[in-house]
Formats: sequence, structure tokens, C-alpha cells
Amino acid sequence: MNRLEKIKFLSAQHARQVIAMRRHLHAHPELSYQETGVVATIKGKNPDSKLIALRADMDALPIQEINDVPYRSINAGVMHACGHDAHTASLLGTAFILHELKDEFEGTVRLIFQPGEEKNPGGASFMIDAGVLQNPVPSSIVGQHVFPLLPVGKVGFREGMYMASSDEIYLRVIGKGGHGAAPDLTIDPVVIASHLIIALQQIISRNASPKQPTVLTFGKITADGATNIIPDEVKIAGTFRAMNEEWRREGLARITKMAKQIAEGMGGRCEVEISNGYPYLQNDPAVTKRIREAAEAYVGKENVIELDLSLGSEDFAYYSQVIPASFYRLGTRNEEKGITAYLHTPAFDIDEDALEIGPGLMAWIAIHELESLPVQHS
Ligand code: NI
Repeated sequence: MNRLEKIKFLSAQHARQVIAMRRHLHAHPELSYQETGVVATIKGKNPDSKLIALRADMDALPIQEINDVPYRSINAGVMHACGHDAHTASLLGTAFILHELKDEFEGTVRLIFQPGEEKNPGGASFMIDAGVLQNPVPSSIVGQHVFPLLPVGKVGFREGMYMASSDEIYLRVIGKGGHGAAPDLTIDPVVIASHLIIALQQIISRNASPKQPTVLTFGKITADGATNIIPDEVKIAGTFRAMNEEWRREGLARITKMAKQIAEGMGGRCEVEISNGYPYLQNDPAVTKRIREAAEAYVGKENVIELDLSLGSEDFAYYSQVIPASFYRLGTRNEEKGITAYLHTPAFDIDEDALEIGPGLMAWIAIHELESLPVQHS
């Protein structure tokens, strides 16, 4: 057996255990930061010569599961609806495989199990602060995420910009309420808010570069008046996404300035609160090219696809700001089995056949990454 065959064999051998672990985690989900970060190290030969890192996230979401499966969540209102149970189980499987092969590769693999991917400011930022990218600094970091748009058996990669930064915008438009039949005696915050929502879209269409993906969406408006009552205030909440840190800063500054000045110009005022989320995710071209080639050897070229840009966000982006990083997708869709629900929905599930591929693929990628590195002499 050559090494690739051996890894596939080990991955198949461990699949039942990995699936059992995934099911246990799925049945016992924990919300962001209820879990604790764990770092494990697997040392090969000459362990100080080189180092790479692999990452899995572990948290669940505040969603009530509707799937009728034996491993259904037993925690009411909490569900692994983003597949982080699968990520954790898969990386444990990778650990088994790498451990069994530790006499066959040079260097060290650091496995990062991080909490709190789903909640600002993102568990990755705490793990970095705690030093997971130091002493020594890994040459690269790779993350794997399940993907319900991709059939099981396939994996997806993308070099360069992949996912967006994400900031939450909270606007409080303050006017002066009164009788709906006497608007002249009021400062109508509903009308001010209406202007704001339209005007702020022009920041995207007139100020952002048309070559840069960016989006502003307001999904929540609360104006608690009535047919004949003008309220005192209107609350608006939304999200701003970008793929360029300079534009991100400029966009947020423009949103703040325009919201305040339009409200003031109309006789009211606007309080702006911004909750900063994750930065944009940049997949290092060299790392991505290497791990993509490794995946082509592992699953076959016909099963490796190019991912589309996404304006979603992911806290793996924090790692990508510190060291060369790449985030790829593991196909988990199976139309025949009816497994098609999207991430963050109460019907989300994965085709567990993916857990025969994920652990071995990541082990193969890890060894491939280590072999691509020159030996460092400390
Ligand atoms: Ni996720």
C-alpha cells in the first residue's frame, strides 16, 4: 500500500467511530463559548523541523431541530445546524490517522479545536490571543467546512478572496411622536427612517468600487406606532459586508455620517451603533494551490470544484490575517437521501458518508503541506 492508499484505508477504518462521535456531539450541542478551546499536537519525525495547523470549530446554534433522526439534539432550542459537530469529529479522525502515521512524516501538526465561531467577536480571535499561532508560528493553517450545496464525494476550493467581513449596524432614529392626523406637530421618525434606508443603499451603489463585492442589508425595522400614531423613534438593524478592509472602514464611516446628517437635516437625530464582526477571508493562493492539488490526488480531479465567492462570513478569517491560510469545503449534500437543507436551518443535516472522506483528506493535506516546506533549522 502506498501512503495515499494507507490513509484512505485508515479513514475508512475510523469512519464508524468518527460518525459515532459526530452523532454524540450532534445530540449534545453547546452554544458558542459554552465549549472550551483545545489544542492538540501530533509530532512526526524530527518534530521541531516544521509545523502546520489544522482547525475545527465546535459550537452549535440557537435553533430547534426538526429532523427525526436517532441522534437528534436533546438540548431544546440548540442545534448543530452549521456542521461544527462534523468538523470536530472529522478533525479527531484526522488526529487518529496522523497519530498512526507519525513515523512516516517529518514535522508537527497542531490541531486547533476552537469555540465560538458563531458569535462575535469570534472564538478564533481568542485562540489567536491565547497564542495558538505562536511558539513556533505554523507555516500554514487549513480549515474544512461542510457544504450542503456540494454533493457528497466532492470538495471545493478557492484562491484569494472567498468570504466577506461582517459588521452589524444598529440605527436608532429619534423624532417626536404624536397624532397621525397632525404630523406638523411631530418630527416623524418613520419618514426619516424611510429616507435613511434608501439613501444608505447609495453608499453601496455610488461610493463602493463596482469591482469590489459589498452589500448592505437592513432586515429589521421597528416603528412601534399605529395607523394613527406617529412613534417617538424607529429602530433599524442590518448587516454590512465587504472584502476589503479599507473599504470596510470607509463604508462604516459613511453609513454613520450619512445616517446622522440626514436625520438632523430632517429635524430628528440618529444614534448609530456598530458591532464589528469578522474580517474578510483571504485564502492564500500558494497554500490553496497546494492543498487543492493534494485533494485532486485524494478524491480525483473530477471531484474537486472551484468555489464561488460568498458574502457569508467565517471567523477562520482571523487566522488568514496572521499566517497563510486556506478554508475549503467538504460536500455533504445527497438529493437521493433528501439531505439538501441549507446551513443554519432547522432541517440541516449531512450525508455522513462525507465523514469517511473528511478525516483522511485532511490528514493527507497535512502531510502534503509539511512535505512542501523546507526543513527549518532553529
Ligand atoms: Ni460554520
